[in-house]
Amino acid sequence: MFGPLSSLLTHDMAIDLGTANTLIHVSGSGIVVDEPSVVAYHVKDGRKRVIAVGKAAKEMQGRTPRSIQVVRPMRDGVIADFAVAEEMIKYFMRRVDRVSVFAKPKVIVCVPHGATAVEKRAIRQSVLSAGARTAGLIPEPIAAALGAGLEILGPQGCMIVDIGGGTTEVAVLSMGDIVYATSIRVGGDYMDETLVNYALDELSIHMGYRTAERIKNSLGTARIPEDGAGEKVSFQGRSKDGGHPAEVYISQRMIAEALRDPVDQIRRAVSTACHRIPPELSADLWENGIVLTGGGALLKEIDIALHEYSKLTVTIAEDPLKCVATGTGIALAMGKRLGPIIDFES
Ligand SMILES: Nc1ncnc2c1ncn2[C@@H]1O[C@H](COP(=O)(O)OP(=O)(O)OP(=O)(O)O)[C@@H](O)[C@H]1O
Ligand SMILES: [Mg+2]
Repeated sequence: MFGPLSSLLTHDMAIDLGTANTLIHVSGSGIVVDEPSVVAYHVKDGRKRVIAVGKAAKEMQGRTPRSIQVVRPMRDGVIADFAVAEEMIKYFMRRVDRVSVFAKPKVIVCVPHGATAVEKRAIRQSVLSAGARTAGLIPEPIAAALGAGLEILGPQGCMIVDIGGGTTEVAVLSMGDIVYATSIRVGGDYMDETLVNYALDELSIHMGYRTAERIKNSLGTARIPEDGAGEKVSFQGRSKDGGHPAEVYISQRMIAEALRDPVDQIRRAVSTACHRIPPELSADLWENGIVLTGGGALLKEIDIALHEYSKLTVTIAEDPLKCVATGTGIALAMGKRLGPIIDFES
């Protein structure tokens, strides 16, 4: 009922509601919100009060008193905590616009290919409750491909591998739709976890998750260095034996060993996709190769690791952390040209 007036007063938004990061794209302005999907609460007498959202909340992770809870409401690309997710989305949407009953934006959100009907409904409902006029859903691999600049409407097949915080989605697209897709619960979070476990088992030190992420992002590599240990970095944690603060060194070789399992699982998902598609599309992939998106695409030598295994050309998309949000924005602008791919109700 507020349709035409509403669009004059507000900005339509494309939202990438990720396990690690939430981004909002607004046409004409680009990405206007880019924040960790984290909320910090103060809990008193059983009542919760939001004290920080995004970067400020992430800063508090792992170092809060008992009265403060730091929550990541998204898990594996879907909502794990509905109430917190809604608060977070509302907070970010208000940063873009003052959402009111007279000015409710039209919103498109991307959802993992593997999300169930219930999970999709929860995502749509949280965006509507946060103040959207309508909430359309688009499969994440299609958004990632659009954001990476791929021509998805033609008959030429392409493969997109989106390595996020919670999941890696491998998809083969043709004629604007998904021919094959798979999603594995392996992404940056699991890589951090393997590093934390490695530090405990091999270096006898409890490493914090934020330290693990920082080390993975700066020095992490998908392949064991060909000669020597590679670069080294020191970090602090709690010693396994005495429990006192301690400092040790970790090398790129050690990090690559720690990351071996997540990298192997991603390789295998790509290999399975290659085996499951029709031969005509295999021929297209031979020509076009694989495009990597998501934060995990920034892991050093992940492109080489995937090339060695699949023999396909592997390209890292420009600005891989932003592809899904940019692509969701492109989908919003394309509207009906994308046909039934954007699902406005279910
Ligand atoms: N340089 C880097 N090397 C390796 N990993 C990185 C790098 N930079 C960021 N990452 C990781 O990328 C992940 C975040 O990526 P992204 O924002 O694409 O995930 P997301 O969209 O929130 O998650 P999902 O798509 O699974 O819901 C984090 O785990 C982060 O640690
Ligand atoms: Mg993502």
